[in-house]
Amino acid sequence: MSQSLCDYFKKDIAIAFCLGEKSENQLARDALVKACEQLSLKLNLETLKFPHPLFSISHTQGIACAVSCRSSSGIGVDIEKLGRGVSEAVIKRISNAGDDFSYLENYEHKNLAIWVAKEACFKADLENTGKTLLDFAVRFNDKSSGSAFCGENFFKFYTWVDSNSGLLIALSLSSSKRLRAAE
Ligand SMILES: CC(C)(COP(=O)(O)OP(=O)(O)OC[C@H]1O[C@@H](n2cnc3c(N)ncnc32)[C@H](O)[C@@H]1OP(=O)(O)O)[C@@H](O)C(=O)NCCC(=O)NCCS
Repeated sequence: MSQSLCDYFKKDIAIAFCLGEKSENQLARDALVKACEQLSLKLNLETLKFPHPLFSISHTQGIACAVSCRSSSGIGVDIEKLGRGVSEAVIKRISNAGDDFSYLENYEHKNLAIWVAKEACFKADLENTGKTLLDFAVRFNDKSSGSAFCGENFFKFYTWVDSNSGLLIALSLSSSKRLRAAE
């Protein structure tokens, strides 16, 4: 995991997982409650809508993951089981002319990493209505981190393998347009 993500995790971002017999939808909300408790954040599940600037959830095959943060311009998480195949045809369908996957050559989880990174960035975009993964230009800086653009919106993302759960996880944070201009 990259150093910058570790720094975020220490103080500003919490991540939690839930698994069990409940519906994935419920597991995800249970995970979000845990993630909010870690940061002492208030959460109202009844009025919760996505995309949300402070929260994001993802679920697959009986496992759910949630992230919460103290402040952001948008946060997104996506999880997929490592064995899930993502075909070249799917990658072609979601490819943007601005994508750069060159750092993923020879990476065993290449297509899955592209998929989760794009999904996490999509979820972190507070203006994602009407958009698809195709609209996000995703550039990996190395095997496990990078940046993305969609129109004027800018994102950073991190991906990592959790061996215990057998998941590939992507976390994305949106930067405000003002912050991007200053970078
Ligand atoms: C909505 C979408 C982000 C869900 O992602 P997913 O990988 O199928 O499912 P996940 O379990 O990871 O995430 C589901 C959660 O995302 C959240 N979500 C739904 N719509 C969202 C949105 N517009 N923005 C942010 N988060 C959203 C919800 O919390 C949902 O959980 P819930 O149904 O329990 O409430 C995805 O289906 C999508 O629309 N992607 C973009 C469209 C696209 O290009 N698809 C690929 C075409 S090849």
